[in-house]
Amino acid sequence: TQGHAETLRTPIVAVLGHVDHGKTTLLDKIRGSAVSEGEAGAITQHIGATAVPLETVSQMAGSLVNPDDFDLPGLLFIDTPGHHSFTTLRSRGGALADIAVLVVDVNDGFQPQTLEALDILQRTGTPFVVAANKIDTTPGWNRQDGEPIQKTYEAQSKQARKRLDENLYKIIGNLSDEGFSADLYWRVQNFTKNIGVVPLSAITGEGIPDLLAVLMGLSQRYMKEEMEIDVDGPGKGTVLEVKEEKGFGATLDVVLYDGTVKEDETIVVGGANGPIVTEVRAILQPRPNAEIRTEKRFNRVESVSAATGTKIAAPDLEDAMAGAPVRVVRDRDLDEVIAEVEAE
Ligand code: GTP
Ligand code: MG
Repeated sequence: TQGHAETLRTPIVAVLGHVDHGKTTLLDKIRGSAVSEGEAGAITQHIGATAVPLETVSQMAGSLVNPDDFDLPGLLFIDTPGHHSFTTLRSRGGALADIAVLVVDVNDGFQPQTLEALDILQRTGTPFVVAANKIDTTPGWNRQDGEPIQKTYEAQSKQARKRLDENLYKIIGNLSDEGFSADLYWRVQNFTKNIGVVPLSAITGEGIPDLLAVLMGLSQRYMKEEMEIDVDGPGKGTVLEVKEEKGFGATLDVVLYDGTVKEDETIVVGGANGPIVTEVRAILQPRPNAEIRTEKRFNRVESVSAATGTKIAAPDLEDAMAGAPVRVVRDRDLDEVIAEVEAE
């Protein structure tokens, strides 16, 4: 599978949804971290990126994901803020996504930013699944940590199951009101046509194996059909944040969604006073399963390929802007690349 892994690019999975519905906690559970606990006021204020290797996915998913069935190197998860003031960041995250997870608190149901996220997904034509989160808060719940949803369902009382089902059917009804045909995921045949709803808990991990299995299936299918791209080509990315880094000055946290970027290459970056032309001094890679927003121990590498979250150090990045494009020039005409960055 090594050869395959090099040809299919890592899919980008955006996690969207209303504030506090559990997006960051879900990613914390998958990557084994506690980013949510460290957040000021417990809300996410930036877009995050975490590369989760296939190995981690299959460990979390147990028998539901057999790594031999997939040519994908893993999944690149993009965390987005749910607070109403971060509309731009949600759109930016949505625009980067190949596929998405819409997180909905199963008790709270649809809320304003759930609808806003749906709108973004509809506009960008992004295939998505719904994670009906916090099933462990159902009264009388008998938690089955880390288990697939079928096993956890079987362990519940009739009452608890009924309460959960009522909430799940409300969510399916809301989706239908918005024009999406949706059902519980095990009844969905084609996830690009119908929306699958996956009941889960970001705290107990119940149902997360199911979510990962659906995401892997959807990604593999989507990447094969839509993403025959050349990961060796000149890199293209989007700036998440401009950050001071000791010894490097201003650096860029970037989601590289296409191609490769190498040390010493010339890049063009969108800046407050027009495009910046500069040379990559260092590429700093977060460790696998690390959130780029909180990572402290980056590994210096000579090159990286899409899709990944990476830190790029280069001179003259002080005026670079979050949301701006990053382009590797390589063998293309510099003026053309500058014009491309200006146009975006
Ligand atoms: P924003 O990024 O600000 O939009 O919020 P978020 O969607 O990332 O929510 P976050 O992960 O920060 O979780 C909000 C609160 O809900 C935290 O206190 C979590 O511990 C709690 N929470 C998240 N998922 C679950 C769950 O499955 N079960 C329970 N019981 N609590 C959860
Ligand atoms: Mg969050």
